[in-house]
Amino acid sequence: MFSQRLQDAINDQINAEYYSAYLYLSMAAYLEYKDLPGMAHWMRMQYEEEVFHALKFFDFMNDRGGRVILKAIEAPPADFGSVEAIFAQVLEHEQHVTARIHDLYKLAVEEGDYPTQTLLQWFIDEQVEEEKSASDVLARVRMVKDYPPGILLIDQELAQRPAPTPPAAEAA
Ligand code: FEO
Repeated sequence: MFSQRLQDAINDQINAEYYSAYLYLSMAAYLEYKDLPGMAHWMRMQYEEEVFHALKFFDFMNDRGGRVILKAIEAPPADFGSVEAIFAQVLEHEQHVTARIHDLYKLAVEEGDYPTQTLLQWFIDEQVEEEKSASDVLARVRMVKDYPPGILLIDQELAQRPAPTPPAAEAA
């Protein structure tokens, strides 16, 4: 039995993942505007990863015979301040997403829904990675402060971020 309460919460999470995608795409646009193409690329890969998270929940709902209901995506901010402020916002946002995933897990336990708990275990592990990658970049940005050669070096490094794996390919 796939409870309506859990389906509603997963639909909210699909919306939250798309908001995350939109937020990072807005950050990518801002970084392009600031002439930091490597950081913009990193943010665009982050955007793609969030779309894949949303699709992972989407596929799961459909596989279980649930009903996906898509909702309006809130507009993200357009200005993010300094490079340090941007990555601080990424980390803060990921911590917020982690709290949401943990709440969803608690609900799946309450509802006695084992398949959702298994799916969420993947997201719990993923959030450890998400927070680590944001805090690693933030730590390096804080080391160089606003020193332009340091920022440019980090920009070049972040340009190397590979594309994420789509959920369908993961399952194959
Ligand atoms: Fe979907 Fe960045 O967590």
